[in-house]
Amino acid sequence: MQDLVQRIYGAGSRFHIGDIGWELASVPPERQAGWRIALWSDGDQDVAWGWIEGNGLLLVVDPARPEVAGEVLDWFREETGPAVQRLTSVLESETHLIDAIEKAGFVLEHGRPYYTHHNITLDDLGTPVVPDGFTLRHVRADEIEKRAAVHRAAWSDVAPSKMTAEAMAAVMSTWPYRPELDWVVENSDGVFVASALIWLDEQHRAGLVEPVGCAPQYRRLGLGQAVNLGALHALKELGGVEARVCPRGDDGYPIPAKLYQSIGFRPGLRTVDYVGQKLDL
Ligand SMILES: CC(C)(COP(=O)(O)OP(=O)(O)OC[C@H]1O[C@@H](n2cnc3c(N)ncnc32)[C@H](O)[C@@H]1OP(=O)(O)O)[C@@H](O)C(=O)NCCC(=O)NCCS
Repeated sequence: MQDLVQRIYGAGSRFHIGDIGWELASVPPERQAGWRIALWSDGDQDVAWGWIEGNGLLLVVDPARPEVAGEVLDWFREETGPAVQRLTSVLESETHLIDAIEKAGFVLEHGRPYYTHHNITLDDLGTPVVPDGFTLRHVRADEIEKRAAVHRAAWSDVAPSKMTAEAMAAVMSTWPYRPELDWVVENSDGVFVASALIWLDEQHRAGLVEPVGCAPQYRRLGLGQAVNLGALHALKELGGVEARVCPRGDDGYPIPAKLYQSIGFRPGLRTVDYVGQKLDL
């Protein structure tokens, strides 16, 4: 799945290899029970994949092979059955997918939460600053428990986080994770209170920031900015020239986009949602 994402990566593509690394590794196997993933190949080249979670589909299709998108959508219908209201979302630039999705009878639906790609080049980054008593650094490979704990803390006010040390260990052993790009802010007691992980696609010299978080009691101190900037500087040192992050773009969850824009990320393409017609049987 990452090979195909990397091969077709560009400004108009939905996913970065880091999206797949994070999404696959951060969810423990027992919570993947309802997932179905299929890959389409032509000879030794992968040309498409589909990933069903519940009634939703994520799909990646080589733009040079647009006809395969119809096969992925047929598989989606067969796997979910005609009585299910199927959902899918794509980046607005993925016209080869949109054509096939509309041909399969899906209609554009407004009003759902969506994501907006935000982009930054690394030539003019600000300097990360943390208040007295805090330390900014990257994690070490053996700090799995602490790394999982800061993720749980940061996401605890959204919903109880299911992040475990085992899942974080899986993330930290997933290609192309590297601890030099996994940054944290540590308080004076040695507790991690903010984090930002960047995934580097060396072929495209492009980073993906995913995920970012700050524990609720430490917010609005500039730690989110500092930990992002620390990780972005490290990305540049490792050869990166640009980075992407994909926060929500709708008004229902606006704060992360404000954080990223405050350090220089600029909004670009957004995701759009399509709903399949449910048959009354
Ligand atoms: C998003 C998050 C990481 C921000 O962390 P933070 O340490 O509070 O961010 P900072 O203090 O560095 O804030 C930087 C800028 O972001 C914006 N911002 C942050 N929180 C804000 C808020 N509650 N309201 C409005 N703007 C806000 C401001 O522009 C702020 O700059 P300012 O304080 O000078 O006005 C934090 O809220 C969080 O962990 N949320 C839950 C997890 C999450 O949603 N992660 C992002 C997923 S894409």
